[in-house]
Order: sequence, then C-alpha cells, then structure tokens
Amino acid sequence: MGQIDRFLQVAIEAAKKAGRIQMRHLGRALSVEYKGEFDPVTEVDRLCDQAIQKTILDSFPGHDILTEESPFEKKGSPYKWIIDPLDGTTNYLHGFPCFCVSIGLEVEGEVRLGVIYVPPLKELFHAEKGKGAFLNGKRITVSKIDQLGRSLIATGFPYDVHDHADFYLRYFHQFIIRSFAIRRPGSAAIDLSYLAAGRFDGFWEFKLHPWDVAAVSLIVTEAGGRVTDLKGRPFTIYSDELLASNGRIHAEMLQVIQEIGHDGASPMEKLK
Ligand code: IPD
Ligand code: CA
Ligand code: CA
Repeated sequence: MGQIDRFLQVAIEAAKKAGRIQMRHLGRALSVEYKGEFDPVTEVDRLCDQAIQKTILDSFPGHDILTEESPFEKKGSPYKWIIDPLDGTTNYLHGFPCFCVSIGLEVEGEVRLGVIYVPPLKELFHAEKGKGAFLNGKRITVSKIDQLGRSLIATGFPYDVHDHADFYLRYFHQFIIRSFAIRRPGSAAIDLSYLAAGRFDGFWEFKLHPWDVAAVSLIVTEAGGRVTDLKGRPFTIYSDELLASNGRIHAEMLQVIQEIGHDGASPMEKLK
C-alpha cells in the first residue's frame, strides 16, 4: 500500500467514526455554546474533533493538525491535516439531516487528499491529487450544463450575515435572477461535494475557513471543476472568497460578480 493510500484509509476511518458519533446523538438535546452570537458549537462537534484527532495521531503522531475546534499547535511537520469535525452545525442542532465530516491532508502546502463523509446518506466523497474524485468508490465528474440560466447553484452565508446582509444579498439577488435556481443547504462541504458530483453547477461564498474547503476543493478540481476567488484568480484554502463551478459556467458567474461592481478591488475588500 502506498503512503497516500494509507493516509486515505486513516482519513476514511476517522470520518466514519465521527459520522457514527453524529448519528448516535442526532435529535438529542445537546449542550450548545456560541463562539460568536450566531456561531454554535455543540458537544458533538467536540466529540467528533477528539475522535478524528485520536485516529490520525495514533497512526501519524508527528503530523500537524488544524481543526476548527482546537487551537493549532504547530509541530513543523510537512503533513498538515485540516479538519472540520462537523460541517453544518446549525442544521445538526435542528435535526435537519444535512451535515458532514471534512478531512483534508496538506503536504508541503499542497492539498493532496480530501474526504467528506455525509452520515445521514452514507455518502463518502474522496479525492487524491491526480487520481480523480469518487463517491462511494465510483468516479464522479461535474455537470455539463453550459449556461448559468440553466444552472442549479448553491451558496451559504457567513456567521456575520446579520451585520452585512445588504452586501451578501446583492450577490444572492443577482444570481437568483440569472440562474435557473438557488439552494442554500447550510454545509459548504456538502454543497461543494454535490458540485463535484454534478448535482450543483456553481457555488460561491465569502469567509469560508480552510477546514470548510481544504478537502472539498480538491474533490471539486479532481472531478473536473474549477475553483477560484471571486475575481477568477487562483484559489487557496486560506482565501476568504470562493467561486466554484463545473468550469463551463465560470466565466458567466465571474461576469455577474463583476457587474455587481467593486472598483477593481476584490469583493471582500469592499466589505472591510
Ligand atoms: C458553516 C457551514 C455553512 C456556511 C458557513 C460555515 P459550520 O460551517 O459550512 O454552510 O455557510 O459559512 O461556517 O460552522 O457548520 O462548521
Ligand atoms: Ca464548517
Ligand atoms: Ca464545523
């Protein structure tokens, strides 16, 4: 077994353990804390975080781990696991079955492996750099739709939407009138996995974090999709703007964003 295959095996084992924890506690009364006024974290986020970290560190004790729910302790390894133990916490809290586990592996600054596990549907998405993207072991590719007007697109809102609603809704407004339809499911990692599988044709969001996008941005590109910032420049997982598509509607989506108008600055610069 190659080294990357061993990493994949451990990532899948960790994601499934966290998925079992999520399903076991789903619908139960949970203790909730708020990191910001609208940014919830539950005991399940933390239990999943611990289970994933333990599984990875049992096999690779020297690796770095960046996770949403624990402080980052840099060991200086070339291997950095990037984890969202529960993406879609608001959905989870309400018993809305759209949530997942996200585990990516960066090697010397490049994401090489991504696993997304959606426990309510038992759907496991994965990709290794250069080897394609898969759903439950079957190869997936992005859709072939080539007009925004025929596209089903998705988005999400960051937790500061209550403070900047007008800014975010300008994008929502333009895309809702220019696309066929929009969905806002509430888990960026699922939205982008669905784009990789051809269920969505485009997606944009502001202020996502590396743990939201590390694994799934690789899954999208390995499925033949395109991921950039909102000006069409190369995407990094540390960026605060993301535009993803099947590639065919990317230019049209960029055009819509440009028409919203931002003086040549990036949209995020307008917000600051
Ligand atoms: C959130 C979800 C949501 C997105 C937010 C994220 P969390 O992650 O991905 O869809 O709109 O921007 O923060 O807090 O549930 O892990
Ligand atoms: Ca998240
Ligand atoms: Ca999370």
